[in-house]
Amino acid sequence: MVKLTFYGHSCFAIDSEGKIILIDPFFTGNPQAPITADEVKANYVLVSHGHGDHLGDTIAIAKRNKALVIANYEVATYCQKHRVEAHPLHIGGGYSFPFGKVKLTIAHHGSSFPDGSYAGNPCGFLVSTGGKVIYHACDTGLFYDMKLIGDRNPLDVAILPIGGNFTMDMDDAAYAAGLLHPKVVIPCHYNTFDVIQQEPKEFKRKVEAETKAKCVILKPGESYNL
Ligand code: NI
Ligand code: MN
Repeated sequence: MVKLTFYGHSCFAIDSEGKIILIDPFFTGNPQAPITADEVKANYVLVSHGHGDHLGDTIAIAKRNKALVIANYEVATYCQKHRVEAHPLHIGGGYSFPFGKVKLTIAHHGSSFPDGSYAGNPCGFLVSTGGKVIYHACDTGLFYDMKLIGDRNPLDVAILPIGGNFTMDMDDAAYAAGLLHPKVVIPCHYNTFDVIQQEPKEFKRKVEAETKAKCVILKPGESYNL
């Protein structure tokens, strides 16, 4: 079974037959985080880009759990410099790990580490595990190639940012859901900060009116079984 848990903002854990794949582990400083970085379990940590609300507690969590970081070359190298094991990938490339496959997809955004140094290109993730396919768009604006992602990879779940300001807003995210045509859409990257306030129920109404997907709103700490 595959279980998806939301930890607030853009952070999700995929529990696939006991292996935990954590994405964008922002706990310290995240007002939505239901647990602390010291409590979270992970076997793998996927990092979409260098911004503090995504790289977050990656180094501490990976060290404590002896987890493998999976990220682009620049983020993977940064983690290796901090004595964390990391597997570098790059956009369009994928690799089969013991739990399943991870492929990096494009994302239209920026990326630098908290000290301002270069962190390569930001990305989204396509994760195939336990017979399910999950797409996490991470931080991005709307792009038409989402159609390509959905057409080539029938998606069980698409996780989409809806907060606007730094990423797609709910109107663009609802359109994205149409391009991706997943079974289920889960919103993220909203209400963490003042400038990304959104009403997720309004997003759910839009998605279910405009597309065939079902929209599942998770509160931080809640899980959804695929
Ligand atoms: Ni960002
Ligand atoms: Mn962000």
